[in-house]
Amino acid sequence: MERKNVLAPSILSADFRCLGEDIQRVTKAGAEYLHIDVMDGMFVPSISFGMPVIKSVRDVTDCVFDVHLMIENPDRYLEDMVKCGADSITVHAEAAKHLHRTIQSIKSLGVRAGVALNPATPLSALDYVLPDLDMVLLMTVNPGFGGQKYIPAMTEKIRTLRMKAKEQGLNLDIEVDGGINDDTIRTVLEAGANICVGGSAVFNEDREGSVRKYLSIMAEYTTY
Ligand code: DX5
Ligand code: ZN
Repeated sequence: MERKNVLAPSILSADFRCLGEDIQRVTKAGAEYLHIDVMDGMFVPSISFGMPVIKSVRDVTDCVFDVHLMIENPDRYLEDMVKCGADSITVHAEAAKHLHRTIQSIKSLGVRAGVALNPATPLSALDYVLPDLDMVLLMTVNPGFGGQKYIPAMTEKIRTLRMKAKEQGLNLDIEVDGGINDDTIRTVLEAGANICVGGSAVFNEDREGSVRKYLSIMAEYTTY
């Protein structure tokens, strides 16, 4: 089955003085997902934002709210995230004590379920849950900040995961997050990623132009 390639601008790099406007700029230019990075200052060093901010921008756009929880024990906030508008929730394998249960909880809330892996976490962490997932988010930098450099060793990880998904006949989205820009986007698409997060590379002086540029590159690739 042919997979849809999707660009997911990360609002972590947006201008928070005019967040609603920034979101409209990237979604009107064609981005179908909005990547929403929630950080707790525990799982990752930094603290970003939480429910009130997400809720406040829910009526700005119809696009998919792709919530990436970089928080310890994410079970505590799953319901809140859905209440404030999440369409997809991704938790870190390293942060969930009972990953299988957490995935089932996300699904029972009626939203898409994703699991994220830090760069050093092996794919085998997904061995017994992969068929339950809508998406795997492969971190291509260490989580916590925007504007970091893509870790080249992740290309092989993307390729291996895509191969596994194919072998098992799974309908799996692979999202890549961190350091995606002009130099790296073709590499991740070629390896089999089909959802690309873009933070600093999208929220620059020309937000609309960046979205259109990345969408047109993504259109050159077909993922199965
Ligand atoms: C990093 C976040 C990313 C971040 C990506 O921990 O998960 O989503 O916004 O930013 P760039 O694209 O600038 O690396
Ligand atoms: Zn993210």
